[in-house]
Amino acid sequence: MIVGIVGLGFVGLCFASVLASKGYKVIGVDSDKQKIKSIKTGVPPFFEPKLGKLLKIALKKNFVVSTQISYLNNCDFIFLTVGTPASKIGKIDLSIVKSATEEIGELLKKVKTRPCIVVKSTVVPNTTRNLILPILEKKSLKKVGKDFGLITNPEFLRESKAIDDTTKPHLVVLGSARDKFLKKLEKLYRDFHPKVPIIITNYETAELIKYANNSFLATKISFINQIANICQVVPGTNVEDVARAIGYDPRIGKLFLNAGPGYGGSCLPKDVKALTNFASSMGIKPTLLNAVEQVNKNQIKNIIKLIESVLGKFKQKNISVLGIAFKPETDDIRDSVSIDLIKLLLKKGAKIILHDPKAIESAKNVFENKISYASSIKGALRNSHCCVIMTPWKQYSRIQKNDLKVMKNRVVIDSRRLLIKNAAGIKYRALGMGT
Ligand code: UGA
Repeated sequence: MIVGIVGLGFVGLCFASVLASKGYKVIGVDSDKQKIKSIKTGVPPFFEPKLGKLLKIALKKNFVVSTQISYLNNCDFIFLTVGTPASKIGKIDLSIVKSATEEIGELLKKVKTRPCIVVKSTVVPNTTRNLILPILEKKSLKKVGKDFGLITNPEFLRESKAIDDTTKPHLVVLGSARDKFLKKLEKLYRDFHPKVPIIITNYETAELIKYANNSFLATKISFINQIANICQVVPGTNVEDVARAIGYDPRIGKLFLNAGPGYGGSCLPKDVKALTNFASSMGIKPTLLNAVEQVNKNQIKNIIKLIESVLGKFKQKNISVLGIAFKPETDDIRDSVSIDLIKLLLKKGAKIILHDPKAIESAKNVFENKISYASSIKGALRNSHCCVIMTPWKQYSRIQKNDLKVMKNRVVIDSRRLLIKNAAGIKYRALGMGT
């Protein structure tokens, strides 16, 4: 069994490393030469817990990487895991999917085997049937279902938990015709995860499941953020207790009810936008999704208001921003709300000093010398008029009153409510807590 993977980003590289470390023969292809160079030496091109160790094991066992798609000429499966970013107007940009599919189509023309092409990239409904399938048939001069298989297999892994989620997913979704290729992929997953539920459906439904999943998660976050904003103006209330209480209702569930500065990252914002655009293009008014996005966008204003309420004017004030990674345990800052916050604060004339345990290098690419960078929390707090906690890194919840002594004013704005218990004696405002 040989598994090919096209696109070695989070999904592709984690999937490849897990499969290869379990003994499958895996060939990974990516057009980015730098990335391939780094992977070959056992260094992941991004930070993801557990990946470094696993990649080294995978390379020792059965993982080969290349920039050449021709390496995949003998594969049983070819997983497509390239990115589907948002275009400027928020629609899905399928150009990378298209060019990778063309290359796979050319390859199919030459191979003697009958591989199964598996679309793991997040694509809007109709993409597999109306874009990927015709390209593959046209380029290869072969027939789907006979000479090659085509299955949609959306991915649900989270950054920072990518290895665990790949090793033990909560679900596998397969969108396909009921053919021999489906049976083969089902067997691969069954061998790999004997107990995981597998949902078999058609292409379009599988594609929509991915968007419904991410959009529902975004909806939960915007919902609790809206409640947090209500709490903030009702003295004595707090969103923590509300979330904890409603989370006990099994129909609601505890997860994804942490109010904060809004959802960021490379997936939730882009997928809500793409589904909104897709719905509109099909004549459906996406009222709820629009509201989810609007609440998310407005959340940053709420944080600015909180800062203003304790700091007054922003001009010439030193503000320490703690955290720019879009969530803890990653160095990924794509669509991070902290970026928007810093931009707004700079506009208002504040001076920013930023700390993040992993993402400072990524931040430097965005802000260069417009802000300062601190390698320790203490360094970030020194001479600061106000500290804003953005990413819920564990180390920030350990900050004590004494650590704030180095600040000019002991003022903390806590968008994640990490310091509620340590707040006595400091000027403290937390998102979602009525004063
Ligand atoms: C998300 C989904 O959770 C994955 O299931 C999906 O596979 C992935 O997108 C994808 O489409 O590739 P990820 O982007 O890694 O995963 O991040 P999440 O853990 O979902 O967090 C997204 C954002 O929501 C973060 O900014 C986080 O801080 C925020 N969030 C999350 C909250 O503000 N409150 C919460 O309760 C949970």
